[in-house]
Amino acid sequence: MALRQIKHYQKDDVLRKKSKIVEKIDERTKTLIDDMIETMYHADGVGLAAPQVGILKRVIVVDVGEGVHVLVNPELIKQAGEATDYEGCLSVPGIKGQVTRPAEITVEGLNRDGKKIRMKASGLLARAICHEIDHLDGILFVDKTIPEDIDS
Ligand code: CO
Repeated sequence: MALRQIKHYQKDDVLRKKSKIVEKIDERTKTLIDDMIETMYHADGVGLAAPQVGILKRVIVVDVGEGVHVLVNPELIKQAGEATDYEGCLSVPGIKGQVTRPAEITVEGLNRDGKKIRMKASGLLARAICHEIDHLDGILFVDKTIPEDIDS
C-alpha cells in the first residue's frame, strides 16, 4: 500500500471531471482502494473519492468512526428528509461550509470483492457518502454552500 497525493481544488481540474464506471475490479482497482483507505486515514479524513487522488473511476471510501465502507460504482437509490450541517473536504483545505443533504439514504454498489451491496445510512455517514458521490460527478461541497474559513 502507498499514500497517494491528494489533489487541490484550485490546482487540479481533475476534481471537476466525471468519473467512469468500473467495469471490472482487478488488482489495479484493489490497489487503488487500499491506497485510498490509507491516504484517507493518514489525512484524518472521513471519506475519499478516487478523483481526489487523480483517478477518474467511480470508487469511494468512507469511515466516520465505525469501520471503513468501500463502494465501487455507488448509486443513491433512495433518499429521505433533509439535514444541514458543516462539511469540509481534504481537497478544499481551510474551508468549511453548511450543506443540506438527505437525512437518510440507501446506496447500492460493489464492495472490494466485487460483491453487490446495498446499505442504509443516516447522519454523518449519509452525509459523507453523498459528499463522496458528488466528487464522482465533479461536484465539490463549496458549490453547495457559502464557504467560511475553518477558524471562523
Ligand atoms: Co471531499
